[in-house]
Order: sequence, then C-alpha cells, then structure tokens
Amino acid sequence: MKWMVIVALVLPAWSSPCSSTAGRNGEEGLCHVQHGALGTDLLLRCNAPGGRVEWRVNGTKVAASEAAAGGDKDQLLLQNVSPAQEGEYSCHHPGTGKTLRRIRLRVGSPPEKPAVECWAVSYPQTVNCTWKLASEPRLETYFITTYRHGMGAKENECVQPGAGASSCSISDIQMFSITPYVLNVTAVNPLGATMNLFPFIVEQIIRPDPPEDLRVSPIPGESKKLLLEWQPPSSWPFPQYFPLKYFIRYTREGANSNRTIGPYEQTSFILTGIRPRAVYHVQVAAKDFTDYGDYSTWSPLVSGTPWTQP
Ligand SMILES: *[C@@H]1O[C@H](CO)[C@@H](O)[C@H](O)[C@H]1NC(C)=O
Ligand SMILES: *[C@@H]1O[C@H](CO)[C@@H](O)[C@H](O)[C@H]1NC(C)=O
Ligand SMILES: *[C@@H]1O[C@H](CO)[C@@H](O)[C@H](O)[C@H]1NC(C)=O
Ligand SMILES: *[C@@H]1O[C@H](CO)[C@@H](O)[C@H](O)[C@H]1NC(C)=O
Repeated sequence: MKWMVIVALVLPAWSSPCSSTAGRNGEEGLCHVQHGALGTDLLLRCNAPGGRVEWRVNGTKVAASEAAAGGDKDQLLLQNVSPAQEGEYSCHHPGTGKTLRRIRLRVGSPPEKPAVECWAVSYPQTVNCTWKLASEPRLETYFITTYRHGMGAKENECVQPGAGASSCSISDIQMFSITPYVLNVTAVNPLGATMNLFPFIVEQIIRPDPPEDLRVSPIPGESKKLLLEWQPPSSWPFPQYFPLKYFIRYTREGANSNRTIGPYEQTSFILTGIRPRAVYHVQVAAKDFTDYGDYSTWSPLVSGTPWTQP
C-alpha cells in the first residue's frame, strides 16, 4: 500500500513532455508516458470510446490488422513487448487525422532485489553500504535506504552522497551492541518496488581499507634484508585507540609462489633471509587488532631489492 503512495508521489517527474514536439498545435496534455514490462502484452488506449481510430508509431501508420487485435476499436495491442517497440505512439481521427492522444512507450522491468553489502571501513565512526541490481531495469530506478537498530526502533536514513548513488553511510554507530542493525534498501521504478533487508552487527562487518604508502627499502650494509614500512589506511579514524594488525605477503621475482607472514602490530618490518640482488614484490593487509571482522584487501604490489656492495 505504502509503495503505491510512493510511486504516485513521484509519478509527475516521469510524465514529463513526450518530446520536443509536445505542445505543437495546442496538443498539450495529450501526451503521456506509459511503461511496459518486457515480454508482457500491453494495451495502448486512445480513450475515444466506440470510435475507430488510426494508430501511428514514430509517425508511421500501424498496420490495420495489428490495431484491430486490440478488441475495442480505439485500442492497440502490443504483444511480448521488447525495447524495439519503444517510441511515440499516437492515435488519430481516421477522417481528419487530428491527434487524439500521444503515448510515449518505455519498456523495462520492475527492479530486482538489490544485492547489499555493508562494511565498517571507518570503525567505529561509520558503516558504508553498497548495493547493485543483477540486471539493468532500463527504467529510471532510485533507492530508498533506511535502517533500524532493533525491531521497534525508529527508522533512520542511511545517507546517500547524491542522486543516483549506489552507496550510503550510517554514522552514529553504537559499539558492541548485540542488537542487530537492519538496513532496508528499496529499489523503486515506474513498474514496481523491491526491497532487501540486510541485518548486521557492526563488529562482525569491520573491514579496514588496505594499508597505504608501502615502501620497500634496502638497509645499508645488509645484502639479505629489506626494510618494509607502511601507514594505516587513512579511512581508519583512530589507529591509536583501535589498533590494527598487519599481514605481509611477499615473493621473489621469478619464484612461482608467495609467502604470507604475520600478524604484526607495528607498521614496519625487516624481512630477513632475502636472496642477494633479487627483486622482491611485497603487499600488506590490515585487520582489526581484536580479530573482529575481516581482513582488508591486499595493498598494491611494491617492489624492492636489497643493498648491494657499491
Ligand atoms: C521509434 O523511434 C525510436 C527512436 O528512433 C526507436 O528507438 C524505436 O525503435 C522506434 N519504434 C518503433 C516501434 O519503430
Ligand atoms: C564511506 O562513506 C563516506 C560518506 O559517504 C564517504 O566519505 C567515504 O568515502 C566512504 N568510504 C568508503 C571506503 O567507501
Ligand atoms: C523498507 O523501506 C520501504 C521504503 O521506505 C518501506 O515501504 C518498507 O515498509 C520498509 N520495510 C521494512 C520491513 O521496514
Ligand atoms: C601472491 O599470489 C597471489 C595469487 O597468486 C597474487 O595475486 C599476488 O600478486 C601474489 N603476491 C605477491 C606479493 O607476489
């Protein structure tokens, strides 16, 4: 019921003028937009009861046999509609050719259930959520994003950065709450609305961004060691109060496997047992110190070579 109201409220934006020719010959108000679901049969109505009319699409007369299939003389039946049938339909007085009604047909699908993901990349400040639709509905689709913290709790907005966004963020996070948050992402377009509910406990979805500024440097006089240094992800707001631990993944150029070591609680590390003169490729990943949530993805590869006798 509520969805119908939403659709009705937004409808005026979709019934904008049919084309630049709208309004010519005093035809304002004749033109309207009709949305058809892909693969369904659709009736276009002229609203000229009883009277025989002539249908045109993009200005070209529609074969009389097709028009007759509509049953009532003033209707046009489109079967198994496809995107190729989009266009400007108009019905006309058969004698005078006067335009009785114009319909812009748009073909698409109601939105599918959006796939939702949420991560606390800036724990404990914000939770960022993203969503996507498995297939493109071809019609303007927007998303209403709200959340509740507990069943009967007040509904709040998950804030989208702008129109057409496919992400939103929740601030005001309550830490260590055993009551799940539930995000509601509702996709709405002219053919329907579909919602997906995504429940989460903040600590279970902690996932920092990858560490930044990784440097791999030689250590003077040490031909079998490399110095690794990096920074916590800048999106992690309080590394001093919510420390991260780090994993290191490295490989020697030409070797066909790599090694992962860690966790380490500091932001530098000396790799030992390095083959002199060889090139090494290194990545680091971060995880919340308390082991809540998930690892970050790996940072981009950085390469280095140990010190060699000048
Ligand atoms: C009408 O014209 C539009 C735009 O050129 C085209 O995409 C559409 O397929 C045409 N419709 C029909 C039924 O020919
Ligand atoms: C999370 O959301 C905030 C606010 O919209 C945004 O500034 C930030 O870039 C987002 N972080 C990530 C990692 O997407
Ligand atoms: C989800 O959001 C939609 C759009 O605001 C609303 O109509 C619907 O009732 C909500 N569903 C739940 C379970 O909160
Ligand atoms: C380690 O192996 C993975 C998977 O084969 C690869 O994607 C990654 O780049 C390698 N990392 C390093 C540091 O070579």
